Amino acid sequence: MVNVLVFYYSRTGNTEKMVMAVADGIRETGEIKVDAEYKDASELSNYDAVIIGTPTYHHDTVLEIKSLFENAAVKNVSLKGKVGAAFGSYGWSGEGYWTRKQRGLEK
Ligand SMILES: Cc1cc2nc3c(=O)[nH]c(=O)nc-3n(C[C@H](O)[C@H](O)[C@H](O)COP(=O)(O)O)c2cc1C
Repeated sequence: MVNVLVFYYSRTGNTEKMVMAVADGIRETGEIKVDAEYKDASELSNYDAVIIGTPTYHHDTVLEIKSLFENAAVKNVSLKGKVGAAFGSYGWSGEGYWTRKQRGLEK
């Protein structure tokens, strides 16, 4: 069984709609367990893949998303070898998603 976390933040519900569609799509692919909810950084090690859904507010991702990775670093939670992906909802510029991508989440 493959464990996938879709971790997200959504203030007005747009990103959440995308997250639910992504989670449903992953579930359809087979023997995969998907959690689409907030998690403590220490729990990231339980997952084979971590997918981030983030809106863009004020040209950036949001504190909740940044904190997940900062806390993982502080707690020495290794993300090495995990599959990562990011997507986002935004109105015009979309730096939230690109910020995550540029920081290496998709490596
Ligand atoms: C106060 C505020 C600031 C925003 N700043 C940006 C921004 O800098 N760039 C952008 O592309 N969209 C921006 N948006 C649009 C949101 O990213 C967009 O509405 C998004 O879908 C919200 O996602 P959510 O419903 O999951 O919270 C902003 C929206 C608000 C209300």
